[in-house]
Amino acid sequence: MSKFMDWVDARFPATKMWEDHLSKYYAPKNFNFFYFFGSLALLVLVNQIVTGVWLTMSYTPSAEEAFASVEYIMRDVEYGSILRLLHSTGASAFFIVVYLHMFRGLLYGSYQKPRELVWVFGMLIYLALMAEAFMGYLLPWGQMSYWGAQVIISLFGAIPVIGNDLTQWIRGDYLISGITLNRFFALHVVALPIVILGLVVLHILALHEVGSNNPDGVDIKKHKDENGIPLDGIAFHPYYTVKDIVGVVVFLFIFCFIVFFFPEMGGYFLEKPNFEQANPFKTPEHIAPVWYFTPFYAILRAIPDKLMGVIAMGAAIAVLFVLPWLDRSPVKSMRYKGWMSKIWLVVFCISFVILGILGVLAPTPERTLVSQICTFLYFAYFILMPFYTRLEKTKPVPERVTG
Ligand code: HEM
Repeated sequence: MSKFMDWVDARFPATKMWEDHLSKYYAPKNFNFFYFFGSLALLVLVNQIVTGVWLTMSYTPSAEEAFASVEYIMRDVEYGSILRLLHSTGASAFFIVVYLHMFRGLLYGSYQKPRELVWVFGMLIYLALMAEAFMGYLLPWGQMSYWGAQVIISLFGAIPVIGNDLTQWIRGDYLISGITLNRFFALHVVALPIVILGLVVLHILALHEVGSNNPDGVDIKKHKDENGIPLDGIAFHPYYTVKDIVGVVVFLFIFCFIVFFFPEMGGYFLEKPNFEQANPFKTPEHIAPVWYFTPFYAILRAIPDKLMGVIAMGAAIAVLFVLPWLDRSPVKSMRYKGWMSKIWLVVFCISFVILGILGVLAPTPERTLVSQICTFLYFAYFILMPFYTRLEKTKPVPERVTG
């Protein structure tokens, strides 16, 4: 075996890669619950790719046959219903995991120097993931697939001058049709998965170049032993590979429970109107995107002017990209930041959740007012960040991790 590895290593850096990224990658020893979600995001990504490939074997991407082919997968293809529900539940699970993963970043300042690029690659993944989910949602060709896509694509029409041409270019037709379905299929199963996989590689390479942050936000590379190994670091493999298996097992219990018993999740994971075939002549009573888009949808609806709403929605995502440059705090972790940072993070999270809830519901004047307040607070968290992070009194950061 070792002779074989010598032969391989002389031609390909297999052992070097294993050591650099696993057996000799020293991660802080105080990782907590929130550090499970990176490896879980990888697991869900693999689940989506594997189940997606199998679904593609029986799915037909045409306006005439798409809906029926999904019914066929659900009823006649062996294990087809499990494959489909693993994929549809996987989409929601992906966003739950990624939102918790991003929240960890906010909590421990993981986006701060020197991890700005880790964050920016993460945000690019998030964008690509949103595009991936949006295009995937058209494929079952149900009522919500059709009308959801109709609402979102028509938003581009609000852009002055090029708006109309742009929407037509995206659809490839005067209305959403089999042509749109075909191109979304191509992008969903080929182009975007490649982009996402590439970005995940860049994300992890960038992280391993500088090393992981931790709940204390202290730099473990400052204190090393005589062999150059951080005193507060432990080898990723076997210590964190084993620890991550615990996270994977717990996650799979919950995930499988939902797949087997509540795959529709009360209409949040699989929306009710989508059990009816797309009908361009019948608009559903109430159109709402899937839950993971609703915070941004609520921001869009909070602003009366369509163009300004689209700009606000875009800005709500764009502002996350520049987060590393908005936080001026001398410390990383919330544990040592002042009370203003803590309060603003709570306000931001509550606003985001309320926006998410309001985005699902039909608008009323009272709900619109609440979403306007939450939109204001959402942006205030970012815009005021350079000020409150610099003005507030921080606690002294320990030299070594505290556990
Ligand atoms: C497919 C989606 C994603 C995958 C597979 C992924 C994977 C990972 C993995 C394996 C790690 C190292 C383990 C850990 O720290 O939990 C990590 C760290 C990190 N990720 Fe992601 N990630 C994804 C999306 C994102 C997104 C959307 C963001 C934020 C915009 C993000 C920001 C970060 C940050 C800041 C770190 C460093 C955390 C630290 O050292 O404290 N990631 N990611």
